[in-house]
Amino acid sequence: MSIVDEIKERLDIVEFIGSYVRLQKAGRNYKGLCPFHTEKTPSFFVFPATQTWHCFGACGTGGDIFTFVMRQENMDFGEALRFLAERAGIDLHPLDQTRSKQRDELERLQKLNAAAAQYYHHILMDTSLGKAAKNYLAKRGVKPETMVTFQLGYAPDEWHALEEYLKSKGFTTEELLEAGLSSKNEKGNIYDRFRGRIMFPIRDQRGNIIGFGGRAMGDGVPKYMNTPETPLFDKSSVLYGIDLARDAIRQTGQAIIVEGYMDVVIPHQCGVRNIVACMGTALTEAQVNILKRLTKKIIFALDPDAAGLRAVERGVEIAKQSMEHRVVPIPLASGLIHYEEQLAGEIRILTLPEGLDPDELILQDREHWDRLVAEALTVGEYFFQRTMEEVDLSTAKGKRAAVERFLPVIAAMDNPVERRHYLQQLARRVQVDERELFPELQRLRQRSGSSAPGTKRRSKKEHPSVPPLPPQTDGLAEIESHCLSLLLAFPQLAPEVLEDIPLSAEAFQDVQNREVFQRLFLNPEKPLENAIAELDKELRLHVESLLQKLQGSPSLSLEMVREDLRKSLLRLQRHHLSRLISQLRFVQEDAQQQGTLDLVREISAKIDQLRREYLQIDQRYYAATLTGRKK
Ligand code: UTP
Ligand code: MN
Repeated sequence: MSIVDEIKERLDIVEFIGSYVRLQKAGRNYKGLCPFHTEKTPSFFVFPATQTWHCFGACGTGGDIFTFVMRQENMDFGEALRFLAERAGIDLHPLDQTRSKQRDELERLQKLNAAAAQYYHHILMDTSLGKAAKNYLAKRGVKPETMVTFQLGYAPDEWHALEEYLKSKGFTTEELLEAGLSSKNEKGNIYDRFRGRIMFPIRDQRGNIIGFGGRAMGDGVPKYMNTPETPLFDKSSVLYGIDLARDAIRQTGQAIIVEGYMDVVIPHQCGVRNIVACMGTALTEAQVNILKRLTKKIIFALDPDAAGLRAVERGVEIAKQSMEHRVVPIPLASGLIHYEEQLAGEIRILTLPEGLDPDELILQDREHWDRLVAEALTVGEYFFQRTMEEVDLSTAKGKRAAVERFLPVIAAMDNPVERRHYLQQLARRVQVDERELFPELQRLRQRSGSSAPGTKRRSKKEHPSVPPLPPQTDGLAEIESHCLSLLLAFPQLAPEVLEDIPLSAEAFQDVQNREVFQRLFLNPEKPLENAIAELDKELRLHVESLLQKLQGSPSLSLEMVREDLRKSLLRLQRHHLSRLISQLRFVQEDAQQQGTLDLVREISAKIDQLRREYLQIDQRYYAATLTGRKK
């Protein structure tokens, strides 16, 4: 968690602003006289749910606790950070120091890994030591340019080759041990961990090498050896190939998950680039978290053997839990509306032909692979098929088994349409009337809906007292920083694009993003370089990290960047307007209850105006995404 988030978690905005402004309750929110302009009726609102404030009166601004302090106390961001940190009881300085020390250490390890990868790669590509390995890779279908793309390498079958090389480059034994490149035996002897292996450098999303996988030549044991846990390498959060797959996942809108290194390398060479490997373990939550920022659609392409299937099933569970849910209204026949939680994403399962890994299938029969991807099953279809394959539907016992196994699966499905569909399918297969299965299904759903036996707690999602907030926030943080990274890297585009799409600083919900945007792009008076140099230390670091986000991504044409930027800005502004509108509706409700009719009229007019702006932006956003797709 960042310090900004930590502060926001510890300080409540209502309490905090309440120490400056007399606030009174207005529905679920609070209102008071705006401290930033003179007024007689309150138009300054604080929203506890989003921890934000907004003045709907003359000044028309808003923000979060940081923006409030900056305006109220006339502070810049760094000052506000220190001020609020103190209020929240957070000590900034020691944290700063340990953090920067840790960062230095990690950077050093990354450099070490980069040097090792270069060494292994050189041995593979340019020396006789690597000849057999290169032949082996060629036999598996890997072209030389792919060896370069993935920086594949070979660790010679010697005890001290890498060690000597890296020491000559100024690295120490301790560092080699810490990076997991050297091992130490009981006698205290140090030797190269990877010997006689084909080396796969493993990178994080930004392209930094964090570890290695080494494949034995032929039938050596173990087949693969990986970097042990190090300060850089945490196997549970690594996805092999993510650095190269990232853009393709965004572009195709889906991510394919395979098991092995080769199952990433070969498909990539064949043009299937939205592919990553979970490296032989079941998918973890950390891995899903990386993917879900890029796409909402995940396809599992794992082995059809028993272990593989179990891994898929566990992976699906993890993915379902960690992906966002959204609340959707479902109209009932009675005319009432029922709210239900649904997965905001899609998980599909691709079953490979017996005995073929993705790399082999793609090389043998590309069309077959494409078909399998296109026809990958939904989770429901997958379990349905499996259940039906495993029971004998010609006997009564088998039919009962099918119902017992599959009905709970249907009960757990998020989507009512899907539930109905599978209920029909199941009924047809076991040849009973669908209505006979319905009561049992209801019973199962109720049971899974209550938290524990005996507590008849009504699930909140089924009877919400308030409608869910309409705007979906997922992905927005990502878009905010994406916009800024592009603006920083392509400042020549800023004036033109920002004139075309007037984005308010308030559209940035992250305070550091907002500050950077406001200070560098909103009213630019100085060249960007100078403006950056004048920022606080904290904001300069933030700018640096924003710029780093683009490192390692392929070079794009200015035209593509402009498109991307326009789309992202439109999306931010659209979200901002929709949030303002829904906040104003609360304010309107409150005014209605108070019977202040003038205010009600004033707010209605404002809502109308914002809605017109919203519709305009919305249309432009969709137009932009459509042209994007046509290309
Ligand atoms: P597999 O045994 O299926 O190997 O392991 P593979 O990927 O098909 O390898 P090739 O095609 O024979 O070269 C799948 C993945 O599990 C991890 C590796 O990431 C491997 O790619 N694994 C496997 C290990 O980490 N250690 C092992 O000993 C075996
Ligand atoms: Mn394989």
